[in-house]
Amino acid sequence: HRHLLGIEQLGPLDITTILDLAEDYVTMNQGTAKHSDVLAGLTQINMFFENSTRTQASFEIAGKRLGADVMNMAMQASSIKKGETLIDTALTLNAMHPDLLVVRHPQSGAVDLLAQKVNCAVLNAGDGRHEHPTQALLDALTIRRAKGRLHRLSIAICGDIAHSRVARSNILLLGKMENRIRLIGPPTLMPAQIESFGVEVFDDMKKGLADVDVVMMLRLQRERMDGGFIPSEREYYHRFGLDADKLTLAKPDAIVMHPGPMNRGVEIDGTLADDINRSVIQDQVEMGVAIRMAAMELLARNLRNARPTAA
Ligand code: CP
Repeated sequence: HRHLLGIEQLGPLDITTILDLAEDYVTMNQGTAKHSDVLAGLTQINMFFENSTRTQASFEIAGKRLGADVMNMAMQASSIKKGETLIDTALTLNAMHPDLLVVRHPQSGAVDLLAQKVNCAVLNAGDGRHEHPTQALLDALTIRRAKGRLHRLSIAICGDIAHSRVARSNILLLGKMENRIRLIGPPTLMPAQIESFGVEVFDDMKKGLADVDVVMMLRLQRERMDGGFIPSEREYYHRFGLDADKLTLAKPDAIVMHPGPMNRGVEIDGTLADDINRSVIQDQVEMGVAIRMAAMELLARNLRNARPTAA
């Protein structure tokens, strides 16, 4: 693959290849020599048109640990503010010969469009409600490490499914790896005809969580609700928030996940989120660096194969 735009374009072998390579980087990142030169000589530009802590920081750390020259575009200070379009901005940066462009944008499809206009490899760091492929890959690595496998698991994805690119990428990935997926949330936060993705849908946590191996909570994404359904937080927490009591319905060794940023006391109890016997939330963050290192290394290999080196 030339770009990493979504899980939709990946097959099970692609997914396993990225996870296996990321395992090596987990080991490297836990040591004291956190450096390699696999991206030496390459330029990585991070363009985040939407706020981020985890994805932006981990892509930057990943690039630096692999020896790339990393540049973070300060989008708030860029000529976007003078009315320059996304595509003109991308073409301008493209003229400076970057090799890897990491892009987050609030509009679904914007990153795919940009990828058609540039010569370098593009990595989607989240586009609107569409996809967040590196999030699904880091979630998959977290699950595989905690459960010892990434197939035939029963996985509940809970909350604001309708506005979530994390949910969409995870549904695609976990489905490709032959897991049983349950979506739990209020009908107003469930996309229409989502059953066609081969998932089971519940509006009751007690029924949906029964005997699952993994409970993945999602943030209520008010910034994408356009003034539509905005539930009362107290009512939402009562019905759909995860606490120790509701978690007893899942398997006794079920793990708790959340992509972050989390609203404690809205979608998840803060004490449960911090319980390292059940919660793998910090592992997800750790896996994020390794997955982004692996994804960039694989794209860089393709770049090097595609471009003849100077004699
Ligand atoms: N999970 C995730 O994408 O977090 P950030 O928005 O902080 O990058």
